[in-house]
Amino acid sequence: MSNREQWSSKTGFILAAAGSAVGLGNIWKFPYIAGENGGAAFLFIYLICILMIGLPILNVEILLGRTTQKNPVGAFKALHGDSHWKYVGGLGVLASFTILSFYSIVGGWSVAYTFEALRGTFHSFETPQVAAEFFNLKNSNPAWVVGYHTIFFAMIVVIILSGIKAGIEKASKFLMPVLFIILMVLVFQGLMLPDSDKGMSFLFNPDWSKINAKTFLLALGHAFFTLSLGMGAMMTYGSYLSDKDDVVNASYLVAFLDTLIAILAGVAIFTVVFSSGYDPTAGPGLVFHVLPPLLAQLPGGYIFALLFFLLLTIAAVTSAISILEVSVAYLVDEMRYSRKKATLTMGVLVYFAAIPCALSFNVLQDVTILVQGKAFTFFDTADYLASNILLPLGGFFIAIFAGYVWGVDEVVKNLLKGNSESVYFGNTILESSSSKKVFGLLIRYLSPILIFLVFLYQFGWI
Ligand code: TRP
Repeated sequence: MSNREQWSSKTGFILAAAGSAVGLGNIWKFPYIAGENGGAAFLFIYLICILMIGLPILNVEILLGRTTQKNPVGAFKALHGDSHWKYVGGLGVLASFTILSFYSIVGGWSVAYTFEALRGTFHSFETPQVAAEFFNLKNSNPAWVVGYHTIFFAMIVVIILSGIKAGIEKASKFLMPVLFIILMVLVFQGLMLPDSDKGMSFLFNPDWSKINAKTFLLALGHAFFTLSLGMGAMMTYGSYLSDKDDVVNASYLVAFLDTLIAILAGVAIFTVVFSSGYDPTAGPGLVFHVLPPLLAQLPGGYIFALLFFLLLTIAAVTSAISILEVSVAYLVDEMRYSRKKATLTMGVLVYFAAIPCALSFNVLQDVTILVQGKAFTFFDTADYLASNILLPLGGFFIAIFAGYVWGVDEVVKNLLKGNSESVYFGNTILESSSSKKVFGLLIRYLSPILIFLVFLYQFGWI
């Protein structure tokens, strides 16, 4: 069709898409959100959200990319002309700036902590309080935060510069298996600990009394974030697929891998936290404050701490590339930039856009705006704006577009196009008319209504 680069294989695409999905959301966010919201009860609701809302939208996003062979702005233009729908794609490009500007800071912390683990720093931490002081002290130095943001960001730019096959696909094919092996090592060591059953039961024995409206809304928001939905990242990755590739089957696999890895990360983390008698409700600091001293104190702790932060870094890198790729693909398709020029342009812009987030822990820590009665720094604002506003808004419009503008018939027809091997159960399910009805119900009613409710909730209207 064109000289647009494509994945060299279906496995390449699945690993890249799984790499995008599996990120800080699985290893940093999921455990602490689950920890604060009743463990198993949250897990249960989260699984429902992935299945009923995440999966249909994931299918639609990948399909929009595959069908149009374009970045999010171009994809809406290709299907609906030069109409207002292109702004939904534009929202994605904006979200890519916003997400990456805080994601790269946390990515930088992960790199920094990998080095600290290597130097054996965590051995001297007696308690999580000491670890928290260390974290705050390091972050009070702007050069430290900006420096590690720079290192992390440089890795992303180098991978993107190398293109789809030689960059993103190659990196994912190497890093994702490594990530999985490291995670399995951590899971097994966690299960060997005394009292590991306490952690397991926290994660798998639901206390139903913990479920309320907030659980549902948090779970939905997180389902979007963890599957990389709502800003065209999966659309962009889908645009490097050919019509022959099976979207339905790929979506199942990506959602399955993402969920599996979140649960395994939960096992690895909660077994350690519970066997040391700590509280799982530590919040966002769980991974950077609580875990380093607990891991370091285990027999063989040096290696486990190192493996954990390596895991976090790998997860962050393969996700961050998918976020930057959205903006790069936009410049390549719409502005006819070369990949090199597009990457360098966006790289420089996003790199500098992230600086205020890096300074949120030191020189700019008092520059805040009031969000729902809380003082938010640039960092908090970027996280909030992306996860709670831009992604759900993008997801809402994508569902509306698929359900009412493009139309369920057309979506299903296109979904079925790619399955030369109709043995995959996803397609068999879609081929029956009742499942098409279910798909229609989910994408036309359930998704938009639930996302709308999340909005009302965010703004305190319900
Ligand atoms: N899914 C990733 C995570 O869990 C984050 C991510 C990558 C993302 N690309 C995205 C989130 C696009 C939203 C949109 O960490």
